[in-house]
Formats: sequence, C-alpha cells, structure tokens
Amino acid sequence: MFARIAGVGSFLPGSPVSNDELARRGVDTTDEWIVTRTGIRTRYLAESSCTSSDLAFEASRRALEAAGTSAAEIDLIIVATSTPDYIFPSTACLLQGKLGNVGAMAFDIQAVCSGFVYAMSVAEKFIRSGSHKKALVVGAEVFSRILDWQDRTTCVLFGDGAGAVVLEASETPGILATASHADGSQHNILSVAGQVCGGKVTGDPFLRMDGQAVFKFAVRVLSEVANECCGAAGVASSEIDWLIPHQANIRIIESTAKKLGLSMDKVVVTVDQHGNTSAASVPLALDAAIRDGRIQRGQKLLLEGVGGGFTWGAALLQF
Ligand code: ACO
Repeated sequence: MFARIAGVGSFLPGSPVSNDELARRGVDTTDEWIVTRTGIRTRYLAESSCTSSDLAFEASRRALEAAGTSAAEIDLIIVATSTPDYIFPSTACLLQGKLGNVGAMAFDIQAVCSGFVYAMSVAEKFIRSGSHKKALVVGAEVFSRILDWQDRTTCVLFGDGAGAVVLEASETPGILATASHADGSQHNILSVAGQVCGGKVTGDPFLRMDGQAVFKFAVRVLSEVANECCGAAGVASSEIDWLIPHQANIRIIESTAKKLGLSMDKVVVTVDQHGNTSAASVPLALDAAIRDGRIQRGQKLLLEGVGGGFTWGAALLQF
C-alpha cells in the first residue's frame, strides 16, 4: 500500500507586490539588489484580517476539487505552519471547522520551511500503517506578520500563501521514500525568539537570520538528504523528472541542483514570483507545475525542504 497524491491546490492572497513597490513603501532596497542576491521579483502579502487558516482553506478547497474528494472523506488533516492563527487550537482544527469536516484527526506541524515535507512524511506513515485512508496535508503561512519591515536584510525575502495536497491509500506507487532531520544546535541562525509571558509578547517577535550561515547549511543538507532519499528508494538522481525544492533563494536552488547533477530545466522555480513562503513554498511550486502541465502522472518528483530549527527533509514520489 502506498500514499499517493490524489490532488493538489494552492492559494496566494491579493496581487503581486514588486521589489520596486517595497522600495516605494519605504524599504531601503532596490530591485537590482534583491533580484541579483535572491532571484525574487514579487511576493504576495495578505491583508491583516487574513490568517493562515483562511489561506489553507482556499488551497484545500482547490486540492479537494482536483482530487474529486469531499472534505467529509478526509480522516487526517495536518497543517504545517510557523504562523498559526492562534497559540491554540491548532490551525489544522480551525481549517477543519472551515471545511465542515468532523471527526478527522487534526494537528499542526512546526518545522518552519521544512514543515510541508515533514507533514508529507508523517501523513505517509499514517496511511501506510492502514490507520488512515485520506489525508489533507497543507503548508500555510502569513510570514509578513513576523517580519521587521525596518530590517531590509530579511523583509524583502518572504511572502504569504498556502498549498495543499490530498494523499490517499493506493496500490499504485506514490511516495517511494522520505527522510527528515533536524539539528537543534543551529537554532540561532534563523529564529523568531519572542514568547508570550503574562499575556504579553516578550523578547523579539520578529524573524532574525544569519543569511550566510543559512545559505551554507541549506546547500549542504539539501544535497545530502536528496541522495539519502534516492538511495533509500533505489532511484538514481538522473531518474528524477522534477526537483521541487523549498523556494528560499535562487542561488541555493541552483547550487543544490548542480550538486545533484540536475539541469535547471528539471527544477521547478517559483521563488521569483512568490518569494519565500516557508512551509507553503513546496506545495505552491508543485501546484504551479501541475497546473501549467509540466508535471505529468507517472513522473518521479523529489520534494525538498530546509528551514529553522535547523530542519530539513525530502520526499521522493511517483506522481
Ligand atoms: N537591499 C539592499 N541592500 C541590502 C539589502 C537589501 N534588501 N539587504 C542587505 N543589504 C546590504 C547589506 O546592508 C550589506 O551592505 P554593506 O556591505 O554596506 O554592509 C550588503 O547588502 C551585503 O549584505 P549581506 O548580508 O552580506 O548580503 P549577502 O550577500 O549575504 O546576501 C542574503 C544576503 C541574500 C540573505 C544571503 O545571505 C542569502 O541568500 N542567504 C540565504 C538565506 C535565505 O535565503 N534565507 C531564507 C530563509 S531560510 C530558509 O528558508 C531556508
């Protein structure tokens, strides 16, 4: 029994916000600096009333429609997010309420930009064990809420959005192998170190990052985990039809593809349009390439994530 993707959907709030528009809004930056260093040209920023569960709901509706499944048939809901609506209940439970599903097991996963790949790996285990039949796996973020708009080294990098996948039990091959890891000794190179104490946020509520340390760490672990996953499935990296990496920075993506010996025409890139949407980036990219016809049924896909924690992981699957 495999866990196989039955349908994918995604959602981006509002209209694209260009680099020049950020400069007009007062960020001390230029389109040239951002494009050269990161590849990002636009990102989407949610209105203040729009939450991760709102974005998750729209993406989930599209994924359910693509899968030809009703919300009532889902028996497991996992939302990967680092920008939940509330401290509790989980964004997965809020999403469940919006979808009108009652009874599915529902919980969040917090692994920052690796969250979606972690969530796929967890859902796959539930399905393969036979305990659950149909999972809704979502990455949803409103990272704009945790950005310091006075800090040009971070605020230009991120955006908001959501992507969702319906995974179902199938005898046809689906997920072939997964690998997930973390190294908590690196927690301080990317963090939001605020906490709620006595009803107030104490500490720093904004995202802080050592960009160069993140860059080096990401390139190393992304190629390592790709090789681990391919090795576990007995698939050569040359057999991968599409690499769908976390969309943080075009230079990280290009370095990873080079280390794997994959040409860039086998890599799905959306960082130019979406910016870094953390846990939403992989399903957003996956959905974009399915809807424009690049990804076809039967092809081998390698999904990869890396993010705060530090965390990283990959899922190799037959679509
Ligand atoms: N616009 C204009 N100038 C800027 C900006 C900006 N937005 N941000 C920084 N600068 C300036 C700095 O002030 C500095 O100026 P100075 O030399 O006068 O002091 C100069 O640019 C170089 O700054 P660095 O921080 O050294 O720039 P670097 O070349 O390291 O690039 C970057 C920064 C793009 C963040 C790079 O380190 C990187 O790509 N890191 C990867 C991190 C990443 O993508 N993180 C995403 C989150 S983590 C994840 O998802 C895995």
